[in-house]
Amino acid sequence: MNDSLILICRCEDVTLEEIKEAFNKGFKDIESLRRHLNIGTGPCQGKTCIPLLEKTLAQLSGKNEIETISTRPPESPVPFGVFIKRGKKE
Ligand code: FES
Repeated sequence: MNDSLILICRCEDVTLEEIKEAFNKGFKDIESLRRHLNIGTGPCQGKTCIPLLEKTLAQLSGKNEIETISTRPPESPVPFGVFIKRGKKE
């Protein structure tokens, strides 16, 4: 399958092809890829894509283990209206 069709981060629309290109440019760890591609910064905060990114980085670098980062997924979904109400002056 074409790497440009494989979505690793569906929140930020990052494909496997983009990750491979960034890796070849020198972005070889999760944090630098996260900053460069915004992977893991979408609504799920990496809950879905960071494990896929770890696996991809392990394959690309030939390592068995990749240093991971801590993710901060929301404990439960929060409607945007909650934040709007808090921001309004009464
Ligand atoms: S899938 Fe990457 S941040 Fe949600």
